Amino acid sequence: MAGGRCRSRTEIVTGAFVLALSVLCVSAYSDENKVFSPCADTTVRKHDGFTFGLLISRNDSFFAQDKNKNKIQLSPCDKRLNQLASGQVAIFRPKVDEISLLIVNYTQVNPQNFGGNAVVFAGKNFAAVSPPVFLAGQTYRVTSLNLVLNFDKGRLVNLLWKNDKCKSCQHGNSTFVCLVGGQCAVKASQCKDAGGKIDCSLSIQAAFSGTDKYQSVLNSWYQMDNLQQYSLYNLYSNLRSTLRSQFNLFF
Ligand SMILES: *[C@@H]1O[C@H](CO)[C@@H](O)[C@H](O)[C@H]1NC(C)=O
Ligand SMILES: *[C@@H]1O[C@H](CO)[C@@H](O)[C@H](O)[C@H]1NC(C)=O
Ligand SMILES: *[C@@H]1O[C@H](CO)[C@@H](O)[C@H](O)[C@H]1NC(C)=O
Repeated sequence: MAGGRCRSRTEIVTGAFVLALSVLCVSAYSDENKVFSPCADTTVRKHDGFTFGLLISRNDSFFAQDKNKNKIQLSPCDKRLNQLASGQVAIFRPKVDEISLLIVNYTQVNPQNFGGNAVVFAGKNFAAVSPPVFLAGQTYRVTSLNLVLNFDKGRLVNLLWKNDKCKSCQHGNSTFVCLVGGQCAVKASQCKDAGGKIDCSLSIQAAFSGTDKYQSVLNSWYQMDNLQQYSLYNLYSNLRSTLRSQFNLFF
């Protein structure tokens, strides 16, 4: 690791040099990605920050119609999607190849009030957008999702939801149900904002796969996939949310 090399070098140099070198060492791990908009293209390396958006809206608002009236899904950054104004956007900036827990707090937004479905997205000419995912309806609320950001030579190529086929809720009680498709959900009536006891904030466990711009392999999704659910919680308990901005009107 670069950090290790820095330390052994600094031991044999003078004070003034140590200072300069330690600045260099810090910058070896700093965020060199200057792109902060989720609607712009970038390439990243390990330890850079990477910005993407989460849009909560109605499922049909993620689609446009082509000439033959077929539905085509577009990125929310695409101006042809014109029914997104009432949706809510959160911008996240996790560190590339770190497992991050991204939280949308129930005190800020109840997805049910904004259409109940979501996509994550990033990029413009190289736009990537996930398939729509169900978050909330009258009866159920999804509170936990796994997201993989897959890169090729540092450029995001796709965003995939990975559920655990209800493994994380099969030992639970009647509060948790397994939805068609293998996603755990909570009965909406038991959420705090409906007068219940459960914090129904949405948490997204995000991890990385593929390669960075120097062709380094991104391992964090592999690690996450191989870890038991309980040990994962310990792992990212101090990474928490990297929510960069409050929910607001973005488009
Ligand atoms: C959501 O925000 C409330 C109030 O700030 C806080 O008490 C609660 O712990 C938060 N929930 C999560 C999951 O961060
Ligand atoms: C969203 O709409 C598409 C196209 O109509 C449909 O195929 C898909 O199943 C829907 N997804 C959700 C989560 O409802
Ligand atoms: C089910 O589990 C949840 C979370 O651990 C808990 O808050 C709730 O009280 C439990 N409900 C019942 C009926 O045991």
